[in-house]
Amino acid sequence: MKKSDPSWSDVDDYIVRHLIGDDLVLDACLTANARAGLPEIDVSPTQGRMLELLARGVGANHILEIGTLGGYSAIWLARALPDDGRLVSLELEPQYAAVARSNIDSAGLADKVDIIVGEATGSLAALEANKIARFDFVFVDADKENYATYLDHAIRLSRPGAMLVFDNVVREGGVIDPASSDPKVPGTRELYSALHNHPRVDATAIQTVGSKKWDGFLLGIVRDD
Ligand code: SAH
Ligand code: DHB
Ligand code: MG
Repeated sequence: MKKSDPSWSDVDDYIVRHLIGDDLVLDACLTANARAGLPEIDVSPTQGRMLELLARGVGANHILEIGTLGGYSAIWLARALPDDGRLVSLELEPQYAAVARSNIDSAGLADKVDIIVGEATGSLAALEANKIARFDFVFVDADKENYATYLDHAIRLSRPGAMLVFDNVVREGGVIDPASSDPKVPGTRELYSALHNHPRVDATAIQTVGSKKWDGFLLGIVRDD
């Protein structure tokens, strides 16, 4: 098998037809993103649905996302929230955030989602300083170079029992390839190293294939202090 196999996408299509179905809101989001020239690095439909189910599974009322892009994963996550729930999503690029804002408004989720524009490390420090909510669910999907830093912030901002999910932790096997030239790999390895025997987080990672090629999610649960 090659590092990317077209049949992975075909199976994703089958899964979407049976378990997810057509979704005009999410189709419109991806169309708007393409029109605005955003990179096509959103999570896939099956992955977005998984995020929604995980967030519902932990009964999330407050969700934090790091890396909004055009709001595709944010729409999935916001759908997991109860009426009084909130998603805070952090995005560096003002132009991406504006596209996401528009997509989230069109999805009817405007009241549930706050997008904070700027370097996530600064936004996270501000959230901590303002003692904004303890999050129940954190999805990390921004610059991989800072994943270990985002882990520390996520723990400080989370309640015990919160679920943490990091995207792109396999990168077509690059994570274990000593010759990998992928600049996003070292930061990913720092995340694994930080979580090795971590005192506060129980974790695993699950490899995935599909329309977004071979990659994976790292899942963790924050324990009591
Ligand atoms: N979660 C999105 C995809 C995010 S792509 C989805 O699945 O739909 C990664 C995003 O992280 C990009 O939009 C990028 O601009 C943003 N990003 C990169 N570095 C960042 C930083 N330092 N702070 C905040 N956002 C950052
Ligand atoms: C990239 C980033 C992502 O979050 C992703 O899911 C896929 C690719 C990237 O920057 O290459
Ligand atoms: Mg990603």
